[in-house]
Order: sequence, then C-alpha cells, then structure tokens
Amino acid sequence: MKSLCIVFLVLLAVPCFAADLSGNWVVRDPLPDGTFRTTYVDLHQEGSRITGTIRVTQFYFKIVESTGGSEGFTLTGSMMDGTNERRVKYEGKLVGDQLHVATRRRPDTELIQMVARRAPPGEGAYPARLPLPAIHRVADNGLAKTPPMGWNSWNKFAGRVDDPAVRAMADAMASNGMKEAGYQYINIDDTWEAGRDAQGNITTNKKFPDMKALADYVHGKGLKIGIYSSPGPNTCAGYEGSYGHEQQDAKTYAAWGIDYLKYDWCGARNLYTDQEMRALYQVMGDALLETGRPILYSLCQYGRAEVWKWGANVGGNAWRTTGDIRDTWDSMTTIGFSQDELAPWATPGHWNDPDMLEIGNGGMNNDEYKTHMSLWSILAAPLLAGNDLRNTTPAILEILTNREVIAVNQDKDGNQGRRIAKSGDQEVWARSLSDGALAIALFNRSGTLAKISVKWSDLGLKSPPAHLRDLWAHSDLKLDGAEYSVAVPAHGVVLLRAAK
Ligand code: GLA
Repeated sequence: MKSLCIVFLVLLAVPCFAADLSGNWVVRDPLPDGTFRTTYVDLHQEGSRITGTIRVTQFYFKIVESTGGSEGFTLTGSMMDGTNERRVKYEGKLVGDQLHVATRRRPDTELIQMVARRAPPGEGAYPARLPLPAIHRVADNGLAKTPPMGWNSWNKFAGRVDDPAVRAMADAMASNGMKEAGYQYINIDDTWEAGRDAQGNITTNKKFPDMKALADYVHGKGLKIGIYSSPGPNTCAGYEGSYGHEQQDAKTYAAWGIDYLKYDWCGARNLYTDQEMRALYQVMGDALLETGRPILYSLCQYGRAEVWKWGANVGGNAWRTTGDIRDTWDSMTTIGFSQDELAPWATPGHWNDPDMLEIGNGGMNNDEYKTHMSLWSILAAPLLAGNDLRNTTPAILEILTNREVIAVNQDKDGNQGRRIAKSGDQEVWARSLSDGALAIALFNRSGTLAKISVKWSDLGLKSPPAHLRDLWAHSDLKLDGAEYSVAVPAHGVVLLRAAK
C-alpha cells in the first residue's frame, strides 16, 4: 500500500492524504425540540497512530488507544468523571470524504451508526477552563426554612417535558389537594434549553415557547416555578449549561419569574475536579443573590466532595447526597437507608437531598411508596413528587398528601431523624419534633410480614408516652408496658407520633 501510494504521488500527485483521517468531523442529529445532539470527532493521524478527542455534548473523551487507519479503525476514548474513568469505543472507516462511525451507548446496547462530515477546525472544541473565584461564604437567602415541597419533571417525563405538561401539573397540583397539603414548586428539570442568542442570553427550545408566560401561569395558580441548569458548558442531557454565563442566566431566571434553581454538575466535570466544585457552586450562589429575587438554590452533584460540609456556605438550600433514584424498591431503600450519618448537617434552610420521589410511577407497590414517603419525612428530605399528577390514583394521592406525615417532614426544628435500632431487615428510626414529640418509624425491609417492637427506653423515654398515634392509620393507639409491638407488612412501615 505504502509503495503504491508513493507511486501515485510521484506519477499523479494524487492527494493520497485524502485517505488521512485527520480533521474535525461532526455528526449533527436533529432532535424534535429543535436542538441537535452533536458528536465531534477531532482526529490527528500519523501513520497508524490516531490521536485526538471525541466530544458528545457533555462527554469529552481523549483518544487513548487506536487501531487501523482510513480503511477501518477503532478508537478508545477516556474521560475522568470525578475519580471514575469513563471509556467509549468507536469503530469506523473513511468513505469518500465522509467518516462512517459506529458506537454503543452502553456495552450491551446496539451499535449506533453515524455519518460524520468535515467541520471547520476548532468547531465544537471544549471551552477553555475559566479561573475560579476565591472561596467566601455566600449569605443565606433565608429560603426553605422547612424542606422544599413540590414536583419535578425528571422522574416521569425526562426529555419529554414541555410547556403544556408543566401547565397541566400546575393545574393538577392546585386542584387535587397537593397545594393545600403544602406542595408549592413546579420544577422543570433538564431539556428546556436551546442555546444562546447573539448577546449570550440563554434561550428556550421549541418545547418552551415562552418561559415568562409559563411562569406567570404557574404563579397564577398560587404556585412557584423552578428551573434547571449546570455549572458546566452542558447539562447532563447535553443541553446548554450556564458556564461563563452565570450572572447573565441568574438575571434571565429572575426576569422570567423563576423561584427555584436545580444546578447539576455533569458538564463541569471535564474542566474541574470534585475539589473545585465548591467554587463553581459559589459563583451561581452569588449570582442568584445578586438578582434580588428569592430563588431557592438546590445543588445536584450526587453527594460528591462531602457537599453537606459546604453546601450551605455556597448559598445552597439543599444538596443531593446520592446518585439518581429509580422507581425500584432496591434503589429507593439503598438511597434512603444510607442517610443516617448525614443527619447533623440538616438545618432549617439547608437540607440533605436523597433525590426526588418516585411515588406513583408504578415500579413499587403502595406499601413500598408509604415507606418512601415515611423515610423521606423522617429524613427531613425535600418532597418533590415525580409522577404524572394528571392521573394520580386516590391511593397515591393519599400517600402524597397525608398531612400527619407531611407535618413530620415539615417540622420547624428541622432535626433529621436517625436509625435507633436495626435487627436484620427491621429498622427503627426516630426524629425529634419541635413540640417535644417524637416521630418513630418502624420499617420492615423484608419481603414478609414481620413483628417489630420498639422499647421506649431505646428512644430515651423514661416512661411510655402519654399519646401515641399511627400516622398512616390516623388513629390513636393504646399503650401497654415498656414497648410497642406491631406487625408491619412486607416492605412496609408503621409511622408513629409519640408525645408526652
Ligand atoms: C442528573 C440528575 C437528575 C436529572 C438529570 C437530567 O442525572 O441527577 O436528577 O436532573 O441529570 O439530565
């Protein structure tokens, strides 16, 4: 091949280098919301060695291994996500002046075929790293004196959320008893963004034609509205982030009438380490305060870098403590029952957030959803419903709006509950309430009915409480002796309120 090429070169001066893979290649997949999912493959070929980068919106891989050449090649890209390495593999070949490439989203999913075309050098390059500000303490915004309550689009709608859906959720919340029970925020998660206009202002995509009008609509229902962004150039779903535009975006949110921001790390991981998160979250904390509008600030960085130790100092009202929840018993309990040691960090205005509710999404039964609601209430966690509020069944609505359980969640002292006892799959958790009462949860994590007992002495009580109430049965209980025993359904809970 080599000698042939030389012959061609000598005889015809044919551009042999056309077969060189070097160049910036782009695949632009249009999405129904008018935005594009773009993949840039920026290659540099030297003989049989291919180096360069692969950028798929928020994923930015450096090519660390390659085989082959223009007739057929493979590339392995690597990127760091905190301390975890992510790898991606591409295979492809040059066909005319197009690069035919294929990859899998996950090792077990089908091969996605793409045709990349040449793009100008530098297009799609990952932005340069901006300097970080000196660390300081952002003033408290005075919001979220009790854990935020509302709804968020992600768990049910993910990328399908749009203006009509958000209006419908506001309609439902305002009329189905949730608003009266304390739910307040209607939060739009990722995928509302388009890009930036000539002045650098963030713009909405086709799904959200007029964010100000939507905010007015939600406010008109007596509710508040939330939005989502990232400190990185892109969000987790690959949409436009606030990187380098933090003040401008905060002003835009305020002008639209936004009351809540969820700020999600994802896209920033290519530029900054976990240890630098605090500075980036501080930038937006300052920017929100400077708007003068009360905007609740919710940090989402999956509990990395011990966020509970600094979340309040960047102006955060809540910070995620874990990875994403799914609508399964395993996911919900793995997250919920791992929060015990974080209790000291919850205070009025600043909450640990074990992620949003899955209640009503169909992956768990009603006993399991009662466990979800009870645990999140004992934990003083934000209560952000994640189901389609238009068709909430009466049973699910009863779980979401149980006032006695919500009163535990919203207790003004904000003491996050703790695990008091554990025996196999049975756990007792308790939370002290502002009037001196105790909320006590008896959890049965096993798959069969189990008797659970709680000794008053284990709860620090010298004598049996004068009043004991079952918050799911809405009934007062009789006390007998030094302990209380009850049969708890499989994956179920008995939630009690004990008062002197
Ligand atoms: C991350 C967050 C989720 C959701 C998605 C949106 O995974 O943890 O809660 O916001 O991003 O892309």
